[in-house]
Amino acid sequence: MPPTLSQPVVAKLTRAAIFLVVTVNSGPEHEAAVRAFCGDLAALLRAVGFRDLEGRLSCVMGFGSDAWDRLFGAPKPKDLHPFREIRGRHHAVATPGDIIFHIRSARMDLCFELATQIMSRLGEAVSTVDEVHGFNYFDDRDLIGFVDGTENPVGQAAIDATIIGEEDPPFAGGSYVIVQKYLHDLKGWNRLPTEEQERIIGRTKLSDIELDDAVKPSSAHNVLTTIIEDGTPLEIVRDNMPFGDIGKEEFGTYFIGYARSPHRIEKMLVNMFVGQPPGNYDRLLDYSRAVTGTLFFVPSATFLENEATETAAPSTADPASNRREAENKAKSRSSPPEGSLGIGSLKKEAGYE
Ligand code: HEM
Repeated sequence: MPPTLSQPVVAKLTRAAIFLVVTVNSGPEHEAAVRAFCGDLAALLRAVGFRDLEGRLSCVMGFGSDAWDRLFGAPKPKDLHPFREIRGRHHAVATPGDIIFHIRSARMDLCFELATQIMSRLGEAVSTVDEVHGFNYFDDRDLIGFVDGTENPVGQAAIDATIIGEEDPPFAGGSYVIVQKYLHDLKGWNRLPTEEQERIIGRTKLSDIELDDAVKPSSAHNVLTTIIEDGTPLEIVRDNMPFGDIGKEEFGTYFIGYARSPHRIEKMLVNMFVGQPPGNYDRLLDYSRAVTGTLFFVPSATFLENEATETAAPSTADPASNRREAENKAKSRSSPPEGSLGIGSLKKEAGYE
């Protein structure tokens, strides 16, 4: 049996990205269209990406909990559930989303072309609920002026942080992703002295050096998002991107975090929004408002390719037999992951583009 290939979850940071979140319109014909599309994505990506291989176009496709039930039924990835809103000192909202396309490239035109092709292929099967075009800002900074992404794990550590292994064998090679769109109060933020901003983030602004523990508050962003369980740090891979609309005075960061379990990202969110201990919350949230929040499961590339052919066969009206069939399908999908960068990786070198 060929090895399971992962989607390009740990693709390198890029200059441009499109985050496209859609819902699947009701009706079995639309669900069937989406299932059939799963197998087309790799070919679309090859066609658009081949126009400039140096552009390193990649795409990750993920599914929300309700969409998974509608499209694929049982078995279900064991930690897939709807995004849980958090009401603490600040509010992490839960917003709709059945499918995410995370499209990355060195060139925005490649991202734009792929997004256009995807939406034209899906046609009336889906409706867009959110579309964000992100750009790289100076030295990988976000619009609040800090370098973002420094402490991301790389190489094997990034794969270990994100790719599911033996904890959920039918879905080995998959991953989870949480997205949140944040809007900044940049006027308020820029009124703070730089030293105050640095204490909020936990790093220096210009040189991006971590503050010494002696001066770093326990509410610093990089303290609240460091999760250690049983002595082991639980890492995630982030690929946040700035975006904005100057005319509307909209300046934002699109947060996207991949992990092999949503639990560790949820823990970071509770620490940020409620505080650790409660009340000791992330002051970045006084200047950054989450306006979306959704959790998706990212199946392996192998799952996507198999899905189109396997779902082409009509299912019976007997739920027990459908479940057996689905379980057999899942078994046939599960073989050891090799942590491959998968379908989007026209080139597989590590590091920054
Ligand atoms: C407004 C939204 C956000 C902004 C502007 C932001 C910005 C930053 C910056 C500037 C850093 C320091 C540099 C680095 O290591 O990357 C950082 C670190 C980090 N952030 Fe965020 N972040 C945001 C939201 C989030 C959220 C929602 C999470 C998780 C749920 C998160 C998780 C992390 C983690 C894990 C680190 C690394 C901590 C470490 O190991 O030092 N961030 N973030």
